[in-house]
Amino acid sequence: MRLVLSIDGSVLVPELSPQPLEAYADVITTLAEAHEICVVTGSGAPAREYIDVGRAIGANEIELDQIGIGVTRLNARLLIAAIGDETVLAPAKEYETAKSALRRGDIVVMGGTAPAQTIDAVSAVLAEYVDADRLIYATSTPGVFRADPNTCPDAEPFDELTPSQLVSLILDLDMTAESGVPIDLHAAKMLQRAQCETIVLDGGDPENILTAVRTGEFEGTKINPDQTNDPPP
Ligand code: UTP
Repeated sequence: MRLVLSIDGSVLVPELSPQPLEAYADVITTLAEAHEICVVTGSGAPAREYIDVGRAIGANEIELDQIGIGVTRLNARLLIAAIGDETVLAPAKEYETAKSALRRGDIVVMGGTAPAQTIDAVSAVLAEYVDADRLIYATSTPGVFRADPNTCPDAEPFDELTPSQLVSLILDLDMTAESGVPIDLHAAKMLQRAQCETIVLDGGDPENILTAVRTGEFEGTKINPDQTNDPPP
């Protein structure tokens, strides 16, 4: 199976420490014994410090995006170091570089690509470009929820959604509130055309990814490609 694994910064670097990076490297190396893997790394807590300082000294939004991209690539570098010889030497900056590395048999690791998006969208584009069989979003929100499970403990994740239902859900939500949707609108729109089976799961324990790939069992939300006439959620 060809997999794209999107690792949110909130689970890869909740703070800058070796443990989650090593745990993710172990899981990725194990998966690579049987699958082709592309990994996209998020930014996490360190980026917020950089972005706060950048904003305080007058950086504009595009400059802040560029700082964010830089941090996603630094995290990719750390993950590359933790994985070792089976992966690329440096984070791919372009999708073509990533696909070439995949064709050579390397584990692909990359961060952001261009301003005005997040790695959610990068992962969806990459999944479409490499014809991935499955896209996995490993996040700190264990699935797609109508309400933030941190503030609404009774909230339940959707078991299944289509990308179009996900788009409707995001548009319906009050985006000023903390939402329970860990995928942004741009990425959801990309999923509408990627036609790739997608799952959103709790990345706090990377073993959840191994279980999901090996058994199909996971707690979270499955996003199946659109069929015609799917009703809104
Ligand atoms: P993330 O993808 O990590 O954003 O990129 P996020 O989801 O808000 O953060 P975490 O991982 O959940 O903590 C961080 C920032 O980098 C810029 C954006 O400003 C984004 O908010 N970025 C990232 C880009 O502009 N383009 C990219 O391709 C990736």
